[in-house]
Amino acid sequence: MIVLGIETSCDETGVGIVRRAADGTLELLADEVASSVEEHVRFGGVVPEIASRAHLQAMAPTMRRALDTAGLELSAVDAIAVTAGPGLSGALMVGIAAAKAYATGSGKPLYGVNHLAGHVAADTIEHGPLPPRCLALLVSGGHSQLLLVEGLTEKITEIGATIDDAAGEAYDKVARILGLPYPGGPPIDKLARQGNPRAIAFPRGLTGQRDAPFDFSFSGLKTAVARWVEKHEATGAELPLADIAASFQEAVADVLTAKAIRAAREHGIDTMVISGGVAANSRLGELARERCAEAGITLRVPRPRLCTDNGAMIAALGAHVVASGAKPSPATLAADTSLPL
Ligand code: KG4
Ligand code: ZN
Repeated sequence: MIVLGIETSCDETGVGIVRRAADGTLELLADEVASSVEEHVRFGGVVPEIASRAHLQAMAPTMRRALDTAGLELSAVDAIAVTAGPGLSGALMVGIAAAKAYATGSGKPLYGVNHLAGHVAADTIEHGPLPPRCLALLVSGGHSQLLLVEGLTEKITEIGATIDDAAGEAYDKVARILGLPYPGGPPIDKLARQGNPRAIAFPRGLTGQRDAPFDFSFSGLKTAVARWVEKHEATGAELPLADIAASFQEAVADVLTAKAIRAAREHGIDTMVISGGVAANSRLGELARERCAEAGITLRVPRPRLCTDNGAMIAALGAHVVASGAKPSPATLAADTSLPL
């Protein structure tokens, strides 16, 4: 079965195509992404209107490239999947409208799917079907969640989430404080490798006895970095950028991995998936590997290209949904900016 997936929930226009075998394994036939990130750089974050317009411009060419890469015509595809939410309203609408047009024009069934479940499904492209139960840590510019996955198409339960900023958002905001470019993850990650992660004791949000064990908070950490920088600048001394980056990064990786491991233990789970743009972070990967090995947990992290927003993950989830026997979405399918899992 061949499924084409369309993703437009944020600033990436993605079209992916997968072939699913009866045993649930996937073959990636195409994964084309056009990003409008450059257009958002001078604003220091994604501007919804700009993202929507960029999707409108990129949609048809990205679709063409994906079909050409796969060596297919749309008529060879069995179903079309599209991100129905969560995400930016206007951005989602462009993808859904395009998907409806392609589905109607080709007579193929259309399946609206959840973006967050798509991030988890991305891993099945790389590592095959998931075990019956696993834990997913989703960390990107828009989300920071701990999900209990009991069947990708059956039951995904959110057991924790950020109460303020997403992990990637914290990276982007701290980068701005340090005068580094947007998006902030890659430059901070690079700088941190030359710094001392124990130089500054930044706070670990929501790790107190009475705090929600699986929720995250990164806004206090960002403020702590801003205060530390302000104080240090007042002394006239040069900022130890690498040490700040390393200490901030350590605080983020420490909290994310500690909470994820604790959640896995409490739910008796032995497989963890980490996905989303921040999954590309070198220290998060290192600490997760270390702590998962200690706890006897199998760690699955898809390659960075599949961790960030893309159409292949939507095609992958769509293929699993079609295989589950679910009905296609109605013609009234609409964007839902906070689509539940
Ligand atoms: O998944 P993604 O491409 O888009 C969504 O937000 O959905 O994630 C982008 C986020 C940005 O906030 C970026 O700063 C962060 O992922 N990021 C990283 C790294 N690479 C990207 N954060 C930490 N370390 C990295 N190496
Ligand atoms: Zn995403």
